[in-house]
Amino acid sequence: MLLGAIISSFMLLASAQPHERGLSAEPVGDCSQLPAYNDDTQIAGPWTVSIAACYNGTASDSRCTIEGFGSSSDVTRQRGDQSDLIEHGFITIASDNNNVKTQLRCNGALNRIEAYVPSGHGALDWHAVGINHHPSTGRLVWGRDAEPVQAYRHYRRGQPVEGFFLGSENQTNWAVHSSRRDVSILDFKPYWVIRLMIPETTFRDNEFHTLIQIDG
Ligand SMILES: *[C@@H]1O[C@H](CO)[C@@H](O)[C@H](O)[C@H]1NC(C)=O
Ligand SMILES: *[C@@H]1O[C@H](CO)[C@@H](O)[C@H](O)[C@H]1NC(C)=O
Repeated sequence: MLLGAIISSFMLLASAQPHERGLSAEPVGDCSQLPAYNDDTQIAGPWTVSIAACYNGTASDSRCTIEGFGSSSDVTRQRGDQSDLIEHGFITIASDNNNVKTQLRCNGALNRIEAYVPSGHGALDWHAVGINHHPSTGRLVWGRDAEPVQAYRHYRRGQPVEGFFLGSENQTNWAVHSSRRDVSILDFKPYWVIRLMIPETTFRDNEFHTLIQIDG
């Protein structure tokens, strides 16, 4: 009985990693420390990013159905926009992990994270991505003013945890919610919206806590 209680509270901790006590985040100072770094180009990647340690409080095993699902994207248009030109968009998570993925990389020459996303008439190219630091958004965007997004390592009781995670200003916890019936302009498929949780963020009913891990 006691052992069972200990084991189940231990499992709860393990699966609830994002809000795990004593888990600290430290920024990775340089692209050269990230997966698939090339000395000649000073670029790490390309890689996708994906849902990791996602916590579903209503599932019996606390796991999210979208654990491991990779990055996608959608473009945004201003209301009343006359132009067909693409100026900005945001990184999302695919609703089906077989969907086409959006790639990201760390550009060491410019010291920034970039995504391979459309602009103008729709041609794909590398654009800087950043976090829209606003309590109601927190999205990972391109083509807009934004705070830098960075790679982080997590430490548990001083020991590094495996993997690299996206964050900004030492925050690496994200909230994820379904776009429901909204589909991406790019592939006409629904997706999941990720928001970086900053201290002012209000967590919504339809959201799940997650980390965003760099694959590779
Ligand atoms: C969370 O768990 C509930 C209950 O099992 C399930 O219906 C829902 O699809 C899950 N959502 C995610 C994102 O895992
Ligand atoms: C983030 O953490 C690092 C080291 O842990 C610290 O030096 C830095 O000041 C922190 N940055 C912010 C914005 O809190």
